[in-house]
Amino acid sequence: MALLQVRNVTKAFGSLKALDNISFDVAPGEIFGIAGPNGSGKSTLFNVITSIPFGPDRGQVVFDGIEIQRKSGNDIARLGLARTFQRETSFDKLTVFENAMIGAVYCGRRRTSSEQRESATDALNLVGIERKRFGQTADELSVYDRKCLMLATAVAMAPRMLLLDEPASGLTKPEIESSIGLIRRIAERGITVVLIEHVLTFLMSLSQHLLVLNQGQVLALGEPRSVIADPRVIEAYLGTRKAG
Ligand SMILES: Nc1ncnc2c1ncn2[C@@H]1O[C@H](COP(=O)(O)OP(=O)(O)O)[C@@H](O)[C@H]1O
Ligand SMILES: [Mg+2]
Repeated sequence: MALLQVRNVTKAFGSLKALDNISFDVAPGEIFGIAGPNGSGKSTLFNVITSIPFGPDRGQVVFDGIEIQRKSGNDIARLGLARTFQRETSFDKLTVFENAMIGAVYCGRRRTSSEQRESATDALNLVGIERKRFGQTADELSVYDRKCLMLATAVAMAPRMLLLDEPASGLTKPEIESSIGLIRRIAERGITVVLIEHVLTFLMSLSQHLLVLNQGQVLALGEPRSVIADPRVIEAYLGTRKAG
């Protein structure tokens, strides 16, 4: 059975249909890619799945057999569905370790404080932030390390599914390579990953299924190689090939 089922999800902002009748399934254990031109509704899709900050106007979202479209962002996170944001987000004046601890404490399961510390340490190790930097405040970190910290905070929650919104945006080529390795390591832990990315090559090397959105609608869905060969996808991409 699918771990995530999205059914006929719609979200409008005034007269703009940011999401128009979107349906797809994500299988447990896979890396599921979401692509689409700037403004096609990718981030809005993550917003309505996680209810951060709002759910859908219409449609169902089922996570692990539970309907979540009317649950709070808080409850959804505690069910094991975590997300990151397009812009690196952390508590700037807290230390690296304290940021990761927020994820570890926020985990849906009961944990002892030593289990929480272990989970925070382990998540920071996974993203490659060394122990000697655990005491630095988040605002002392580079853009890449802040992205890694945001990821570590999400991983410390021990989610079953992680939604990543453009984890490679604003990164250099070698940093993009490192993020690909990092996302693979997260998936190898059994965390199902849904990955939004504007850069198609990034998605091609990681995802087992690929969904392409265009103007709030599903343009193509399937195996990545056949999706990118779809003439409608090529047109949508080449027609709007701007950074974003
Ligand atoms: N909170 C909001 N209020 C009004 N319009 C929004 C809001 N969030 C997104 N939009 C609009 O919805 C469309 C889809 O945006 P978004 O999901 O951010 O696209 P993407 O992530 O694919 O670049 C855009 O036209 C955007 O301006
Ligand atoms: Mg976006």
